[in-house]
Amino acid sequence: MKQKITILLVAIVTLAVWLMEACRKKEVAVGNAIKFEVPQGWPQPAYNFSSNPLTEEGFLLGKKLFYDGKLSKDGNHSCESCHQQVAAFGTYNHDLSHGYNNSHTIRNAPPLVNLAWQTEFGWDGATNKLESVYVNHINSPINMGENTTAVVEKLRTDPEYPRLFKNAFGDETINEDRMTKAISQFLLMIVSNNSKYDKVKRNEATFNISEQSGYEIFANKCGGCHKEPLFSDHSFRNIGIPFNTYTKDLGRMMVTNKNIDSLKFKTASLRNVQLTWPYMHDGTFPYLDNVLEHYRSQVVNGPTTDPFVKSKIPLSNFEIGQLKAFMYALSDSTILTNRKFSQ
Ligand code: HEC
Ligand code: HEC
Repeated sequence: MKQKITILLVAIVTLAVWLMEACRKKEVAVGNAIKFEVPQGWPQPAYNFSSNPLTEEGFLLGKKLFYDGKLSKDGNHSCESCHQQVAAFGTYNHDLSHGYNNSHTIRNAPPLVNLAWQTEFGWDGATNKLESVYVNHINSPINMGENTTAVVEKLRTDPEYPRLFKNAFGDETINEDRMTKAISQFLLMIVSNNSKYDKVKRNEATFNISEQSGYEIFANKCGGCHKEPLFSDHSFRNIGIPFNTYTKDLGRMMVTNKNIDSLKFKTASLRNVQLTWPYMHDGTFPYLDNVLEHYRSQVVNGPTTDPFVKSKIPLSNFEIGQLKAFMYALSDSTILTNRKFSQ
């Protein structure tokens, strides 16, 4: 008898917890729905849109949050302070991004485009939920230096936010879940598919001779890892960049604790690469020329160096010029200057 009661009680508690979870997760979409367009020929996105239906109101709220210093401790470190539109929402000019109280992160802020197709975030893939990235950033003393509970409190007492949350989610409740979902709605809409490369693929433009030769070299020597159309296969690899003795960053190994993952980092997408300098996870290379010289002559061989680059990648100076011409054709001005994504 006693056992049956215990089983019944466990069942009731489990059901109650499950129901609470289900209610918490399910956000009813209000407002004007936005349809997420998958560019022709692209794979299906990985993001689960049914858990966070896109609306105009959610997008606008997310945009306001993205540009708002309130999300950081001293009001100076909005998301945009490290993820700037002119650099395809990455950091340009600085190797390591600057955070709260003159701190800096240990990495170069990656551009934020085509996030809907990613399943692992950060250079080491430490997070597999997009919304958790922002929570980690807000709570990190070397990033935004704040905590999400305090941010939610600031938003609750703001004259505008309660109304904007109501427009986006149906009532004025402000919590971490809604805040991060709104930011995702903004970021997910930043789809970069309008570079010259894309226009050529759609038969709306043609490459000049250098771009065309560069494309052929690229397909041959780089495209295995920087896979079209996203220009990354999202794998983690060690491409023989010297160990950074300042940041002491071991990359993917810090997530998996496995030696075979030492010094592996996520294959960067090369979309808008012309503007995302300096390059690599620690911004170690200021120019594309440095990157190409690395592949050609400076790969450091260690136990985990990728077989594709171990023997270096042969490139003549002429080919380097052509490769650069092709990479410039990956810049998408509709993202870099689009008012829709500006403050
Ligand atoms: C102080 C600089 C800084 C600020 C402020 C900042 N970020 Fe980041 N962001 C970074 C860095 C550095 C990384 C790479 C982190 C890593 O690899 O561990 C990153 C990574 C990301 C990623 C993962 C991208 C990918 O391709 O894997 C997303 C998404 C992101 N940030 C969004 C945001 C949002 C939204 C905010 C505001 C809530 C924000 N960031 C604020 C520096 C910053
Ligand atoms: C073995 C897979 C692999 C091959 C082959 C490869 N790359 Fe990469 N590439 C990567 C990885 C991984 C990164 C990120 C490494 C890091 O930050 O530590 C990267 C980073 C880059 C970056 C820096 C992007 C940024 O925004 O920081 C550029 C530019 C680049 N590669 C161009 C090329 C070119 C051009 C070729 C061909 C000559 C090539 N890659 C071949 C895997 C590869």
